[in-house]
Amino acid sequence: MTIFRCPLCGGPLWEIPQGLRCPKGHSFDRAKEGYVHLLPVSQKHSLSPGDDKAMVAARRAFLDKGWYAPLREALAALAVAYTGSEPVVLDAGCGEGYYTVGIREALASAGKAPHVAGFDISKFAVQKAAKRCPELDLAVASAYHLPVADGAVDLLLNVFSPLAIEEFRRVLKPGGYYLYVVPAAHHLWELKEVLYDAPYLNEEKETPYEGFSYEKIVPVSYTVHLPNQEDIQALFQMTPYAWKTPGSGKARLAALTELDCQVDFRVHVFKKED
Ligand SMILES: C[S@@+](CC[C@H](N)C(=O)[O-])C[C@H]1O[C@@H](n2cnc3c(N)ncnc32)[C@H](O)[C@@H]1O
Ligand SMILES: [Zn+2]
Repeated sequence: MTIFRCPLCGGPLWEIPQGLRCPKGHSFDRAKEGYVHLLPVSQKHSLSPGDDKAMVAARRAFLDKGWYAPLREALAALAVAYTGSEPVVLDAGCGEGYYTVGIREALASAGKAPHVAGFDISKFAVQKAAKRCPELDLAVASAYHLPVADGAVDLLLNVFSPLAIEEFRRVLKPGGYYLYVVPAAHHLWELKEVLYDAPYLNEEKETPYEGFSYEKIVPVSYTVHLPNQEDIQALFQMTPYAWKTPGSGKARLAALTELDCQVDFRVHVFKKED
């Protein structure tokens, strides 16, 4: 069973031996890892859109060390609190699946029967997520042309991925919830102090979206102690600073042997209006 729809005509997709097929005969192969590729060439703006292999590997290495485990726990607790007994969950821009799997495990441990799906425009990310957890319903797809039916999703998650709010609103059920993770003022402050001569704090704001009401904002703030250069680099490579930091900042970072750094997230919980 999949929540995904045909990206060409919007029709439902049925299982066939080699993958999925819609009533109009559009068919999509299932990769050996178990995911399906639902990104038509017309929606591809490059040969390999999204995070490349090295970025996905860096993210996996960093996340699996548990540095962001408190965020995963907070999201899992919210998912349990804001869903019924058989929720359909969609992780938009799921990357290599760290949060997707955390939520699935928490819902199952709470005695629920979840259907947890995720998509990402990066084939490398979805491949890794599928290997991490074969029970996930995974597709390579774009957030801006989401191949999911209207009102099919009870809980939608977005951790640092593109905000395709119209599509998110469309696929959520009335009364469904949207968990949107954003960096708060002091997120990675000490890293920025090393990289830049004049770092600035992130702006914090409440952003109302049409068709959604604010349920609450949950802070997730703590300090990580990165004990060596390898872990410092793994964090750096995961951030947008990796491609915009001047050489002098990179050299200062390369000279560090350890770093204590604030992690400062806000989970904005929205409810889709009826
Ligand atoms: C910063 S990563 C976050 C990944 C994951 N949510 C996490 O926190 O580990 C952003 C992700 O968005 C994906 N992405 C970029 N553009 C996208 C789009 N148009 N549709 C779906 N995913 C996209 C990238 O491939 C990447 O995996
Ligand atoms: Zn079709």
